[in-house]
Amino acid sequence: MTNGQYVAQISQTGGGYSFVGDAGYNHITRKIPGDVVIEDRPGRYIYLRDNDTGEFWGLGWQPVMKKPDHFEARHGIGYTIIESANNNIDSSVLFFVPQADNCEIWQVKLTNSEPKKRNLSIFFFVEWSLGQQMSNSQEASFNDLFNVTSFKNDTIFAGKRRWETSQKVGLFWDKVAYFALDRVVNSFDCQKDKFTGVYGDIIRPQAVVEGKCSRSQGLGHRAVGVLQKNIILGVGATTNLNAILGAVETNPESKSFNQAMATGERRAKAIIDKYKRPGEIETALAKVKDFWISYNSKTLARTPEEEFDISFNYWNKYQAWVTANWSLMDSYYIGGGSATIGFRDMCQHIIGVMPNDISLATQQLKRLFGFQLKEGRTVHNWDKLTLVGKVTNHSDDPQWLVLATIFFLKETGDLGLLKKTIPYYDSGSGTILEHLIRAIEYSLKNLSPRHLPYRLTADWNDAFNPAKQGEGESQMVACQICYSLRELAPILEGVGEHDLVEKYQRIYEKIKNSINKYFWDGSWYIRSSTNSGSPLGSKKNRYQKIDINAQTWAVISGVADEKRGKQAMDAVWKRLNTKYGPAIFLPAFQHPEEKYGTISQFAPGTKENGAIFNHPVSWAIIAEALLGRGDQAFKFWQETNFTYRVKDPETYKIEPYVYAEFIYGPEHPEFGRGSFSWATGSASWFWRGCLDYILGVQPVLGGLKIDPCLAKDWRQVEVTRQFRGADYHFRIQNPFRVSKGIDRIIVDGVRLTGNVIRPFSGGSHFIEVTLG
Ligand code: GLC
Repeated sequence: MTNGQYVAQISQTGGGYSFVGDAGYNHITRKIPGDVVIEDRPGRYIYLRDNDTGEFWGLGWQPVMKKPDHFEARHGIGYTIIESANNNIDSSVLFFVPQADNCEIWQVKLTNSEPKKRNLSIFFFVEWSLGQQMSNSQEASFNDLFNVTSFKNDTIFAGKRRWETSQKVGLFWDKVAYFALDRVVNSFDCQKDKFTGVYGDIIRPQAVVEGKCSRSQGLGHRAVGVLQKNIILGVGATTNLNAILGAVETNPESKSFNQAMATGERRAKAIIDKYKRPGEIETALAKVKDFWISYNSKTLARTPEEEFDISFNYWNKYQAWVTANWSLMDSYYIGGGSATIGFRDMCQHIIGVMPNDISLATQQLKRLFGFQLKEGRTVHNWDKLTLVGKVTNHSDDPQWLVLATIFFLKETGDLGLLKKTIPYYDSGSGTILEHLIRAIEYSLKNLSPRHLPYRLTADWNDAFNPAKQGEGESQMVACQICYSLRELAPILEGVGEHDLVEKYQRIYEKIKNSINKYFWDGSWYIRSSTNSGSPLGSKKNRYQKIDINAQTWAVISGVADEKRGKQAMDAVWKRLNTKYGPAIFLPAFQHPEEKYGTISQFAPGTKENGAIFNHPVSWAIIAEALLGRGDQAFKFWQETNFTYRVKDPETYKIEPYVYAEFIYGPEHPEFGRGSFSWATGSASWFWRGCLDYILGVQPVLGGLKIDPCLAKDWRQVEVTRQFRGADYHFRIQNPFRVSKGIDRIIVDGVRLTGNVIRPFSGGSHFIEVTLG
């Protein structure tokens, strides 16, 4: 759940943690990286104790784990609700992050369903992190010594006397965290060991066992926030109470830590008071829902496949927005504190929000240009807080910047953007056009004598990173360059760069010929050459005989003609596909080998070593759609989409509403298990694969191109899309049960010549498309 600033990771048991601004330096509640996936702990916990019997339980089941009489957890877009029934108390907790403030609200409702009055105590619990995630998880005892927690005006405040970034050391945290109820509190604890008891734990904390907190405040302790409220609940009675958890900025100009804390506490109080006002929480929740309804309603589809609609209209789109804000910054699987944003990842994330949130895409794209060096290459990742980037020599990075810009220009049609000047990361500045040319030229400077790009540090596959960099070439980057050169041509033409267009056309042909000459293996494309010049992803190899990206990108870039394209993708079906989607490559490496690097170190069938890596599957969908094979495109989508995978939760094991980075591959005993959920660049690509290639409503410079590629048995599809200020409603009919090909297009009652609709300046337009 996020408003773009405050992030609350939440599981179905209330597990997870929160941070604000970035996950590296501004964690509010604690994450224990190694354990979080397995234990789903700690989290936002609410204990309820029946003071007449001494029994207690957790409203979200965790951490007490007492079997409830009823349990239901629902993740909505922007909120989570956990309902349960225990000991004749029905409870519901709704969690959400308001749009306007950097906090989260826990809305609790309790109903007594027993025919007698109940004497209860409720305990709200969080464990604080307070600033840097890395030192908290690695050096917790040292880190604890900087914690300061106090209880004032029914609120727990938590600050940190030390905070360092990669740029500055020795500061105190510029934020204050707070935790309050909208009620007078009966007791509290700020020291973890006072709450749990010595040798105690959060499963059976002493304070809850005994029914009373010890009013501890903390100075250099392991810090928690526990608020206790005693409640008498009459027969059939219901009570509502709300918790507010968040962090506010202190005043950076403050002369002392105490003064800064006082400012922060004042600011926190204003927010808490706001949410105590009647109706304020309901209004804030309605605003969250309005935000997502507005974002989600810009592009909608109705197809014969309910799962497709659920994913396309809501959850895939939601994940694309979250990743376009946060990239892979923090999840249960990654983000142990390094919390950087990947350059190539962000270039790809933003293509997934362009039709629905162009302002977010614009802001991120401009930032990306600022991370390009004058020589054309880019940083590989950057620290979100300090904006310090790490410069490596990944051969693919500059090409993703070009790709993101191409998508952007097609969305907006505004070539004026190319004139905008943006500083380079290291020195000087240039127009966006100059940035793009430098990106291309940098890649062209790093070609081998065979006109193929060197892989350098690595290409898209970060894990193929032999210790020694050398003369290895990347077929995928070669295809990426071809894609860029081909797609840039009309853009460059549009701004009068005819000579450049001609030059790039010649280079495109040269690289394309080289790929087809040196990287065609008879039935599929070779993925790379190693430093010694031997092929990888070839029938000659024992491991990694065929790699999916070499096939898909040959099609996407136009490098493969139709015959080779089909042959290459047929090889993917034959040699890589499984019931859970096609593997990244097979067979997986069995032994760690220096000449292949990390790729061979991962357990076979996991991560980049022979798993079903979702990101490349999205390209397989696009490649099949480009080849006109709609049944195949949809089958790849179906095999990997979470709405299908979750039908077998015992195998899949992870969230039913987001893409995982990878599914354990066929060589692993847990084949089919999802892993590294959220942490994937694929959400955006899957979504664009669905919109542009399956539904076939695709922006081009001159307007909207209509070129669907449907599963043959889809008889009718409806699509709504906002585009350059107008609304377009498509009804695509498929009476002849084909996948591709257009019989006619009628726009507002007038038959269209060709398949590109010139953009209208506004209004709503109705388009009838008949395939045939
Ligand atoms: C991860 C990285 C991405 C990379 C991919 C393959 O998803 O975030 O940048 O391309 O792995 O290594």
